[in-house]
Amino acid sequence: MKKTIHDLQNSEMPLVCLTAYTAPLASLIDTHCDLILVGDSVSMVLYGEDSTQKADIPMMIRHGRAVTKAAHTAFVVVDMPYGSYETDKITALQNAQHIMDETGCDSVKLEGGQAQAETIAYLTQNDIPVMGHIGLLPQSVSDVKDYKVQGRELDSAKQLMTDAKAVEEAGAFSVVIEAVPEPLAAAITASISIPTIGIGASNACDGQILVSEDMLGLSLGRPPKFVKQYAQLNDSINDSIETYANEVRTRSFPAIENTYKETKKKTA
Ligand code: KIV
Repeated sequence: MKKTIHDLQNSEMPLVCLTAYTAPLASLIDTHCDLILVGDSVSMVLYGEDSTQKADIPMMIRHGRAVTKAAHTAFVVVDMPYGSYETDKITALQNAQHIMDETGCDSVKLEGGQAQAETIAYLTQNDIPVMGHIGLLPQSVSDVKDYKVQGRELDSAKQLMTDAKAVEEAGAFSVVIEAVPEPLAAAITASISIPTIGIGASNACDGQILVSEDMLGLSLGRPPKFVKQYAQLNDSINDSIETYANEVRTRSFPAIENTYKETKKKTA
């Protein structure tokens, strides 16, 4: 059965969420997770760009469609890319509707708290389910080295609490909290009734999300401190490619079992 917002909001277990950009990975994740996010991190992870600002609507639709085709039970959220919702709420609604129609996803996600509350309210009033995203906002950062923990000072912590409440009041069904210290993540989680999904925001959140390639050891560069790597796929892929290269060079691949032997006989 396909997960619904009601299921996510009433889960007694922590919500398990991961990103996916392709059908094969979405299909594996679908078996184990409550929610799949087609994150705009796709622009960095798959396309090698230096910022999520490089994602655009066609990119999100292409990957969103691949994921929704493969996800039969998980709730699918597609990120609204940089530039697609900040200018005004009418444009935001048109773009959100376009992304939902073209991908068949269950919701969109957009970054920003109080500053985006009016847009979130407008989308939800027009039947677009919205997931919020507060704390570190990757679309506002053009260099990865500026990815920093948020809410360490009293003023910024207060603002994050205001952001969380504004997002909830605007009608978001859930909110991602990124790169926030545990006490603040716990206080926000206790203060709002929609599920908080943490990424670098401690165990105090109602659920967790990671970029799949980071937790699988399949991304370029060193992952952030909050990532636990459950596999080292880069190493096993590297070993497989090395073996293949050796076998091609020594003509041990293709072997007999990989070769078509029969030649079709000509009829007179
Ligand atoms: O784009 C993304 O992958 C995200 C996650 C980091 C939550 O927004």
